[in-house]
Amino acid sequence: MEILSIQNLGKDFYLHNAGKQIHSCQNISLDLQEGEFVGIVGLSGAGKSTILKCINRTYLATRGHIYYNSKAFGRIDLTEASEREILYLRKNEIGYVSQFLRVMPRTTAKEHVMNALTESGVAEQEAKERAEEMLAYFRLPSNLWDIYPNTFSGGECLRLNLAGTMVKEPRFMLLDEPTASLDNKTKILVKDMLIRLKERGASIIGIFHDLEFMEGLCDKVFNISEGTIV
Ligand SMILES: Nc1ncnc2c1ncn2[C@@H]1O[C@H](COP(=O)(O)OP(=O)(O)OP(=O)(O)O)[C@@H](O)[C@H]1O
Ligand SMILES: [Mg+2]
Repeated sequence: MEILSIQNLGKDFYLHNAGKQIHSCQNISLDLQEGEFVGIVGLSGAGKSTILKCINRTYLATRGHIYYNSKAFGRIDLTEASEREILYLRKNEIGYVSQFLRVMPRTTAKEHVMNALTESGVAEQEAKERAEEMLAYFRLPSNLWDIYPNTFSGGECLRLNLAGTMVKEPRFMLLDEPTASLDNKTKILVKDMLIRLKERGASIIGIFHDLEFMEGLCDKVFNISEGTIV
């Protein structure tokens, strides 16, 4: 069954101060079956991150539709869904790992991961245990768990970001370069976790630069620059 269908998605930005129109992504059509893993590749600036942000509704699409087959609401167009529906889906169904982490101020690393669980109704104690397990899995040193992540290195931020998203085991995940700035050992941890979540039925769209590394995981690769699916 289809979990996502992107139809002729386009996003433009109008930069008022420069008086300029920027075409970010254009005419994007892409389908994702349940349990499938689709990789997106393409040139820098081609609009890969923009696609994920339109799905997550960080950006509102300028044209086109994004139909998502949700558990809670049935088939829903994410370009038109209400704020309330989008917030619910982000908490309970859709996980997004952004290219650059933004965390809530005055939230420690562990709280960040715990909040991902408690906001969807998991009890405090269980959330604490699962958060610690996930932080340990991604090898974030335990002396960093109780501090604010604004001083974290790029790779530490990314691992925190991964832990905070994957702890929820979302049924649908958007991953924006989830292995950039990680060493090979940590990349393998990410890959193993993705294999595990995929085996449990998760559907995933990921942007990768090192596609060879993701071999055996991606079912299809969408090249945004060429508009092809392989
Ligand atoms: N909020 C924004 N305002 C204006 N322009 C934007 C905005 N977000 C993205 N863009 C522009 O849209 C284009 C696509 O950006 P996007 O981040 O989607 O590219 P990308 O394919 O993910 O690139 P990279 O591989 O470098 O991460 C770029 O030219 C970028 O400058
Ligand atoms: Mg990007």
